[in-house]
Amino acid sequence: MENESVPKGVFMNDAVAMTEVQRKTCPAALAPSDAFVFFGASGDLAHKMIFPALHAMARHGNLNIPVIGVAKSGWTLDQLRARAKDSIVQHGGGTDRDAFPKLISLLNYIDGDYQDPATFKKLREMLGAAARPTHYLAIPPVLFPTVIKQLGESGCATNARVIVEKPFGHDLKSAIKLNAVLHEYFPESAIFRIDHYLGKEAVENLLFFRFGNTFLEPIWNRHFVESVEITMAESFGIAGRGAFYDATGAIRDVVQNHLLQVVAFLAMEPPNSLYYESLRDEKVKVFRAIPPLDPARLVRGQFNGYTREPGVAPNSRVETFAALKLEIDSWRWAGVPFLIRAGKRLPLDATEVFVKLKKPPLSKLDSESNYFRFRLGPELCMGLGVRVKRPGPGMKPSPAELLAVRTDRCDEEDAYERLLGDALRGEPGLFVRQDAVEAAWSIVDPVLGTDSPLFSYEPGTWGPEEAGKLADDIGGWHTPQAAACAVTSM
Ligand code: BG6
Repeated sequence: MENESVPKGVFMNDAVAMTEVQRKTCPAALAPSDAFVFFGASGDLAHKMIFPALHAMARHGNLNIPVIGVAKSGWTLDQLRARAKDSIVQHGGGTDRDAFPKLISLLNYIDGDYQDPATFKKLREMLGAAARPTHYLAIPPVLFPTVIKQLGESGCATNARVIVEKPFGHDLKSAIKLNAVLHEYFPESAIFRIDHYLGKEAVENLLFFRFGNTFLEPIWNRHFVESVEITMAESFGIAGRGAFYDATGAIRDVVQNHLLQVVAFLAMEPPNSLYYESLRDEKVKVFRAIPPLDPARLVRGQFNGYTREPGVAPNSRVETFAALKLEIDSWRWAGVPFLIRAGKRLPLDATEVFVKLKKPPLSKLDSESNYFRFRLGPELCMGLGVRVKRPGPGMKPSPAELLAVRTDRCDEEDAYERLLGDALRGEPGLFVRQDAVEAAWSIVDPVLGTDSPLFSYEPGTWGPEEAGKLADDIGGWHTPQAAACAVTSM
């Protein structure tokens, strides 16, 4: 393996070794940040994710730097503190006796307009001696260019990192443009593009499970795998995010990023090492092997009642459901369909991968396909679908599933905590590289927009019937079950 940033003669065989070398050769790249600034401090993302993540970091002893919230709400610091408390009570499992006061003592606030240079002057002053801040843009994407420019012009971008929320851009063209804006003030090594699915243990486990188990290596390819399905079902709707969602839709919200990342983990070749760029290289290769999506292989849906949601246009044609069929034009995967289905107001909450294997040639035993099932959330489990003999006379088959359930999750770092911690330490492995963002947009670009047919569906169903046709040739969609991580007897 060779990489420009790796000194010649040094062979990196794991991420830790890489980190040590980088620390020696390029200390600025990996020096920990000494302040955390988040724009959008009064917003929804801060309430749901950022405060709970900061609180958890404080609980784990990983937060010891100033935390500065920026927003334009006419708030005081006390109001921001109250908001932090409310957020942690609602979404962070309650305030911790030591961690909460710690977070509050580190928290500061700037109320100001993002268009106004004075806001950024105040920020520069408040940063004081901090020389390597991390700025998190937890704001609507339309404000990104303004804030990036202001950070640059005010000197706040010097030696700083920037965390950018997904979706990165609105399509391929705007992603390239946004990148150019960022690069005016931040080098690539300082840009951290978030896709919180990369911070999920269960998603990383897909990779580990594939490459950490010898028995999978010979069968994880077109010779043995019949189809791969990924379903991301959410029972809730757009949860008060009408304006954001109506400008986004399911394809941009979760397919271009979260679900294509899952595809990459399932389909990539083994990386040469665990050095993070090797992993990222392999993922990009998967995206580049996926031809741009054929509109005939996409079904868009909208749940009945969506257009009455606050913030949604009454005549909106934005999809709240998308089902699509991809192919991966690679030696390993040629001919294996990869199906993705994601939707709001579906019957349950479940993100599940279903990898169906080809049938064994035992027609006399009424053989069925084996499968691997990975429940990625909210519960975590993995199932291997097998056929066993039904007790009794004759050779009758019976389906069974070998199930492994994760139950020891109480002190696991959640995705945002992991990602913020990594960004503050300057570790980019769980963030998306620009070439991957662009390659992923190239896949969905032909089907973005609202011109293609849009089918309605009733809340609480599995989306429009038309989606069923996409899976006809693989025997229909696999439907995640409510109690799919509960142990049943054989
Ligand atoms: C977000 C999307 O990125 O991911 C939401 O904007 C979606 O619409 C959420 O609900 C799902 O995340 P998770 O971690 O609950 O699967």
